[in-house]
Formats: sequence, structure tokens, C-alpha cells
Amino acid sequence: MKVISTENSQILSTRLASSLGAPLCDVRYSRFPDGELYLRASDLDKEMVIVGSITGNEALIQLLLLIDACDDRRNHLVIPYMGYARQDKIFNEGEALSARAVARALSNGVEDVTIVNIHEQSVLSHFRADAHSVSLEKDIASFLGSITLEHPLLMAPDEGAGSFVRRIASLTGWDSDYLNKTRLSGEQVRIAPKSLDVTGRDVVIIDDIISTGGTLATAAGMLLGQKARSVSAVCVHGVFTTGALLHLHAAGVKEVVCSDTIERACSRISAAETLACSIRESSK
Ligand code: R5P
Repeated sequence: MKVISTENSQILSTRLASSLGAPLCDVRYSRFPDGELYLRASDLDKEMVIVGSITGNEALIQLLLLIDACDDRRNHLVIPYMGYARQDKIFNEGEALSARAVARALSNGVEDVTIVNIHEQSVLSHFRADAHSVSLEKDIASFLGSITLEHPLLMAPDEGAGSFVRRIASLTGWDSDYLNKTRLSGEQVRIAPKSLDVTGRDVVIIDDIISTGGTLATAAGMLLGQKARSVSAVCVHGVFTTGALLHLHAAGVKEVVCSDTIERACSRISAAETLACSIRESSK
């Protein structure tokens, strides 16, 4: 078995290869004069782990080209972050179901697909290969255990994310809660924990994705107003569009941490071990 990667997942792929004890394949990426992408891989194996986060259109094309370069092999596809997965329904007539389009395009030539914390489980059914999602709960819990927090409280930004955060809290042995939104008037909403008081506590808000940071910045401002000692943010996928990190820090968030499903300076949690366990199972 060998590991091969798109350009934007090089760090995670290197860690994954090391966890699997499998060599990494070299790939040269370049462009034709008209801007089209070109790649050439060396020393492929009969069994390949193909890794690529879909962080944009270019990353998606690179992943398609990699799968093609590995044609006629036993291929395990790893999508650490699956962009386009949030358009998982047809909300208005005539829209593309983007998650389905991407899943179908990536299914040709792969035996199985592993995705990290897919936003919506129903997306998996669009792959025409055996697809499953793995969760970084244990990795997030072990990161949280390595930092110093006073009277910690793990917070989900909404009820939907509550069970994800509860499972992390059960691993750390800490309290958890979720944020509840109450509309006070046409313009005013109050965001507060459903059950627990945050006074004097280090609160960590945990979400699957931080995109614009809007959800967490609003929540952080409210929690600090409710006398939390500090508010930090942890997510699996640090998409960070439109100045999200600046927005979060300006709202008083002490620290923002994400995993390496999207490789960032604040990627302090790695998906490599969890992915390696999953690939070992798929490869049996
Ligand atoms: C929503 O369902 C997701 O779990 C995240 O809460 C959302 O994507 C965060 O978006 P933003 O950072 O733009 O508020």
C-alpha cells in the first residue's frame, strides 16, 4: 500500500503515511500554458490511499486527476474535508445537488471512501462506492486534555451539535451544554447555554466547521457578557473565509484551533491516526 496526495493535503498525508507505515508517492504538479492542471505520479502501488481535501475547485480537479492516475488499482479514497457537502439538498427548484454531483464524480475507480466528520450523513449515499465518515471526537478530547483550562465547559453552538460535543465531554470527563437562541424582539436575540452557568469558567465552543466565524463570534460575545472567564473555539474543519479568524479574535475568542483536514497554522489536531485506523479496516 502507498499514499498519494493532492497539494493541499501534503502535511496530513505525510502523517497518515507514517501512521500506516506506508511509503508516500511523489507527484509533480504543474500547468499547461492555458492554465489547465497537469500531474504526474511516480512509483504507484497495486493498492493506493488517495488523499485530498476539497477546499475549492482546483483541489477537486487535482483529486479527480489523481484518481485517474491511479486507474486500475485497488484505491481507497480519503476526503479529509469534503467541500460542496453543505449543498446537500435541493432547496429551490432547479438547483444542483452539489454534494451528489461531487460524490458521483469521485466514485469512479475507487473501492471505498472515507470522509472526516461529514456535515450530513445523507451525503454518503451519493457515492457509488462504499462511503463512511469518521469522527475526530477522540482526537479533539485528547487535545483538550493537553491544555490548561479552569473549570472547563464544552459548548455546542446549537442543539444539533450537542451530541458531538457531549461525546467529547464524556471522554474528557467535563461538563457540556449547548447554546439556545431566544428571540427577545424583532431585532434582538439572546444566546445562552441551555442549562449551565458560565460564570468564571473557561468555555470551549466546539463545531464541525468554522466558515465565516459568524456563529461562533456572536456566541463568544454573549458568553463573555455572561461572565465566562474565557472563550476558545475548536473545530474539525477550519474553512475560515472572509477574515473569520480576525472576526473571532475581535469578538474576544482567546484561541482558535482546528484539525489538519484543512492545513492551517492553527491546525493543532491531526486526523491521521483516526484515518489510519479506518483505512486498515477498509484494506482487510
Ligand atoms: C452549521 O450547520 C455548521 O455546523 C457550522 O455551524 C457552520 O457551518 C458555521 O458557519 P459560520 O462559521 O459561517 O458561522
